[in-house]
Amino acid sequence: MRITIKNLLASLVLSFAASFAFAQGAAPVAKAQVESVNILEVNKDVQAQREKAENQPANNQPIWKSANSDQAHYVSIPNKEAGVLIQKSGQQWRLIRNGVITVWGGWLIVIMAGLILTVFVVKGKIKLHEPMTGRLMKRFSGLERFSHWLMAFSFIALAITGLLILFGKHFLLPIMGGTAYGALLLVMKNIHNFTGPLFTASILLFFVIFVKDNLPSKDDLYWLATFGGLLSGKHIPSHRFNAGEKIWFWAGVTILGMVVSGSGWVLDMIVPNMEYWRGTMQLANIIHGVAAILMTVMAMGHIYVGSIGMEGALQGMKTGYVDEAWGKEHHELWYNDVKSGKL
Ligand code: HEM
Repeated sequence: MRITIKNLLASLVLSFAASFAFAQGAAPVAKAQVESVNILEVNKDVQAQREKAENQPANNQPIWKSANSDQAHYVSIPNKEAGVLIQKSGQQWRLIRNGVITVWGGWLIVIMAGLILTVFVVKGKIKLHEPMTGRLMKRFSGLERFSHWLMAFSFIALAITGLLILFGKHFLLPIMGGTAYGALLLVMKNIHNFTGPLFTASILLFFVIFVKDNLPSKDDLYWLATFGGLLSGKHIPSHRFNAGEKIWFWAGVTILGMVVSGSGWVLDMIVPNMEYWRGTMQLANIIHGVAAILMTVMAMGHIYVGSIGMEGALQGMKTGYVDEAWGKEHHELWYNDVKSGKL
């Protein structure tokens, strides 16, 4: 006979009834029902369980096996998932989240930081080949810069708080202790949860403003084939954005940004008319973690090139204007279009 909660309960009720009847001296009634039945002999599983309880008093394996069988049982409280005592996939989620995502994701970020540092030390800042002319040309409007910085700052706030939520317990908890770390994480979690929707809005605005300049063109193939002149040091002409920036725009900001946002909305529980099951949240959490790590790694590369990695790049996003020498060297086709009055 299989050990199920039902069988165990039945055995318990029977033994309880027998001892109760014995104690009451109601032998005839009890005899009629249990006299010829030695419950320990009939129910071998129960006997084995009893022996185990004596020999290995701490071993509750059969009970836990049954409780951990992922079956939904009846409960009267109004919670649609309370009938499953232990949800098995929760353990798989925990292993993926604390194993694959934390370990591999952590290494990816460390490797990217190492790569950037190596490029900076070995190659240094990408300098202009021609001297600055002192003549400025307009590269970004006020709205364009606003949408970029809104997206950038909301992303950075999300990245810092998100990384603390994922990795903080490994390096901050031992230093800070539970109480201070718990308080810090509560603040981080709220910043993260409330900045998420702002980030989604900023991506949508950014997409609408910049999509036309990020459509693929045949010049991108040449740029990609030559790695943007990274190895040869030659100028590779490009339109307003080069192929590298377009990859960042489509794969990083648009696709990963939308995946991170969508899964974040599920985790924030703000998607209207959605059923939030435990499994739904676990899946959303894994998708969110993977996409967020990939986006962070790409963003690290972008932030490096857009700030200390390339001479004159940040000026465009800060002031809206770049030097003509910069425009000609990095985006020659765009420069020609502006100069000829086409743009
Ligand atoms: C402090 C951090 C950042 C700095 C210094 C920075 C800098 C820049 C600069 C200088 C440009 C203009 C490049 C050009 O003129 O061609 C730019 C463009 C851009 N940035 Fe950032 N950025 C930062 C953070 C971010 C973040 C976090 C994101 C995304 C979440 C982002 C997404 C973009 C995109 C998509 C473009 C335009 C590329 C295109 O449309 O092809 N930036 N950034």
